[in-house]
Amino acid sequence: MFQKTKATVVAVEIARNSLILAKENIAKLPYKAPVIFITADSAYLPLRAESIDLVFSDRAVADMNSPPCRIVKVLAELKRVLSRGGKMVLSDECPFVKRNEGDEMASWRWKVAKAVSHLIGREHAHEVDPNDLGFIMKLIGFKEVESRTFSGEPLTPRRMQRFVQNSMDLILRIDDFELKKAFLHNIEKARENFKGRHGLLPPRYVLRARK
Ligand SMILES: C[S@@+](CC[C@H](N)C(=O)[O-])C[C@H]1O[C@@H](n2cnc3c(N)ncnc32)[C@H](O)[C@@H]1O
Repeated sequence: MFQKTKATVVAVEIARNSLILAKENIAKLPYKAPVIFITADSAYLPLRAESIDLVFSDRAVADMNSPPCRIVKVLAELKRVLSRGGKMVLSDECPFVKRNEGDEMASWRWKVAKAVSHLIGREHAHEVDPNDLGFIMKLIGFKEVESRTFSGEPLTPRRMQRFVQNSMDLILRIDDFELKKAFLHNIEKARENFKGRHGLLPPRYVLRARK
């Protein structure tokens, strides 16, 4: 995309460490990408109104929706910076609404991760149903809102390892010994399950719209 359009990309990230990681990844590209990196909250962008032609976000809607409903402010801000007729493409994992939807084990892993975050008072993602997201986009004034969902990709050993490692780190911050033990047991079960039958990531959605 960088090469075809010669566009300047403004990369926004709220966490300084993640921005450093993004810079390192971009530097590995075989060509020089015109990227301006800014540390900012996407609900309050330090950008002029109507200065951006395309907004793209992958796997960040649920993170930006913390606390719940904050995505409304984020979407309003994205609309402010988009030029007239500008496009927006948002993609993220679908929430699990029913137990039997998608891979049951993926839903269970996600719930364990969220429960641990609750217990240690850590901020965490609040997934948005793509239908609700589309509805909010229309309310805010976006046009031509379209949505598609895709089944979840296979869970790779690397992703599983990261889940286990991150969960372990967080569980160690739980004060109650019995709770800590119970969660460690659950993580071990997830690891065993993965060894036996691998599994899927949650289904994903892509929503696109125009200002
Ligand atoms: C799941 S990560 C995905 C990152 C990247 N898009 C990817 O696919 O690897 C979500 C990112 O959103 C960032 N984030 C969360 N809330 C944000 C906000 N309000 N404004 C900007 N970035 C935010 C988090 O710091 C995190 O790095």
